[in-house]
Amino acid sequence: NAGQPLDRFHRPLRELRISVTDRCNFRCRYCMPREVFDHHRYLPRSAYLTVNEIERLARVFVRLGVHKLRLTGGEPLLRRDLPELVARLARLRTPQGTPVDLCLTTNGVLLPAKAQALAQAGLRRVTISLDALDDTVFRRMADTDQPVSAVLAGIAAAQHAGLAIKLNMVVQRGVNDAQVLPMARHFRGQGLALRFIEYMDVGSTNGWRLDQVVPSAELLDRLRAEFALRPVGDEGPVFEAADAMRLASPDAPRDAVATPRDTAERWLHVDAQGHHQPQLGELGFISAVTQAFCAGCTRLRLSTDGQLFTCLFAATGTDLGGLLRGGANDGQLAERIRQTWQRRDDRYSALRQPGLAAADGPARVEMSYIGG
Ligand code: GTP
Ligand code: 5AD
Ligand code: SF4
Ligand code: SF4
Repeated sequence: NAGQPLDRFHRPLRELRISVTDRCNFRCRYCMPREVFDHHRYLPRSAYLTVNEIERLARVFVRLGVHKLRLTGGEPLLRRDLPELVARLARLRTPQGTPVDLCLTTNGVLLPAKAQALAQAGLRRVTISLDALDDTVFRRMADTDQPVSAVLAGIAAAQHAGLAIKLNMVVQRGVNDAQVLPMARHFRGQGLALRFIEYMDVGSTNGWRLDQVVPSAELLDRLRAEFALRPVGDEGPVFEAADAMRLASPDAPRDAVATPRDTAERWLHVDAQGHHQPQLGELGFISAVTQAFCAGCTRLRLSTDGQLFTCLFAATGTDLGGLLRGGANDGQLAERIRQTWQRRDDRYSALRQPGLAAADGPARVEMSYIGG
């Protein structure tokens, strides 16, 4: 399709992750450590893209091939106009006429108050972050006064509102890896997907250490010792895909467009007869450190103030918000997005040698700013 841009590794543009605020009511140690973020200079409200501006940009992105929109933050539920934004985005249709896949990432504590309104506005699914079931471990990681029960109430509220649910658990060795089995036990049978995320070296404030990463392969061994699991589809040889990406060079001739790859490798819970029922739920592994998925990365990120980032590990963005506020028309916005995507050669996770500490280089942007 001549209208849809490819980047320098022939990856199409399919997903836009929109950060709607850089603030959060949690201070997760791996994301917004309190000693840095209590005195952080957050964006002034005037810099936030408005609902109208986000909707307008989203339309342009959808015309360029984006069919998945994720609202993130910071904590997106802190935005009071979120239901209005959801209502606008839920109405968008791809050029083929199908609804866009609209999702939301949240820490869950505001869901009891907001889940119903969001579902009514057209939201169909949410991803809720939860790193432990044990209160002490949970509070130590999220650095919050909220108990785990507040997040569990959020999960229940989302279920009650009819939203499909994925749970994200960032696993840190020696911090919460003993919570992996209890979490899997607790959520088996609740009809949701529990995903384990390898702790990543995003941003430059979390003091990341490789020895705190628990490789997904190790977790899978631990889980299969207790649960009957069946892999979904053919995820392919991921290790080789990561190697191939590391060895590839930008702009090399390619016969095919890269296949978009999900972040998670999925395993279904099965019963004693080996059958899966939706209610049993599933487990997922997001192995950004040990099995980079850059080769199929079709994601762009839009910060709260309209900077466009081509990689989670990027140091600088493209000022799309400035262009918009400067009076650019839709065609000019589309052209800037197209150029940005066509120049893209990011593959940070694939390049970082396994076993190596976080790469040096310019200070990277924080995940709370560009959106997880
Ligand atoms: P769905 O499965 O469709 O819900 O989407 P998803 O897997 O993209 O969802 P989610 O936003 O929950 O992503 C899960 C986590 O994967 C994020 O919180 C990040 O930690 C990580 N992640 C997502 N996208 C990227 C990416 O492009 N690069 C890297 N390195 N990590 C990512
Ligand atoms: N490593 C891995 N995942 C992270 N997240 C935030 N920081 C990190 C990190 N350093 C994830 C959290 C949350 C989402 C917003 O981003 O799981 O679900
Ligand atoms: Fe907030 Fe999510 Fe970051 Fe935790 S991981 S501080 S909940 S944005
Ligand atoms: Fe995409 Fe960058 Fe993550 Fe690789 S490291 S998957 S290119 S966002």
